[in-house]
Amino acid sequence: MSFHRINLTVNGSPEQVDIPANMTLLTMLREKLALTGTKNGCAAGECGACTVMLNGEPTNSCMVLAVECDGAEIITVEGLAHDRQLDPVQEMMIEAGGVQCGFCTPGILISARALLNRNPNPTEAEVREALIGNLCRCTGYVRIVDAVQKAAKHDMELAGVGGGHE
Ligand code: FES
Ligand code: FES
Repeated sequence: MSFHRINLTVNGSPEQVDIPANMTLLTMLREKLALTGTKNGCAAGECGACTVMLNGEPTNSCMVLAVECDGAEIITVEGLAHDRQLDPVQEMMIEAGGVQCGFCTPGILISARALLNRNPNPTEAEVREALIGNLCRCTGYVRIVDAVQKAAKHDMELAGVGGGHE
């Protein structure tokens, strides 16, 4: 097995990691960087529990080799809060009751933040579309979708922009 040294940015911090060629980004985050917020649900690209932002795009980290991430910028759920302040998607997920067992939650938060970064005012259909790859066995999605729309509204209020789909 060959090993590789890669440099990447994770949650704003530069990291240098030595990894075997067949290690996934998911395993690297959890086992080399102790970022265990990102979950391993299926290891097959089907559940979305392992979703992280890879260069701004929500990505199933179980389907990406870590060696492919040399030079990349990764955001995991641990990187959403800033200055001890939760991201609005985290706050609203709690407020709306969108968390039950919580296993899907890190991936959903990342997909939701990626959506709001590219579309600050999504419709319910757009939220559902953005979360289509994130499976939740507990909640029935209604509260999750509600939380994402509330977070959008919160983002826009902070930015001083009116509007928001109810
Ligand atoms: S663990 Fe990656 S999609 Fe399920
Ligand atoms: S809260 Fe349990 S899988 Fe979503």
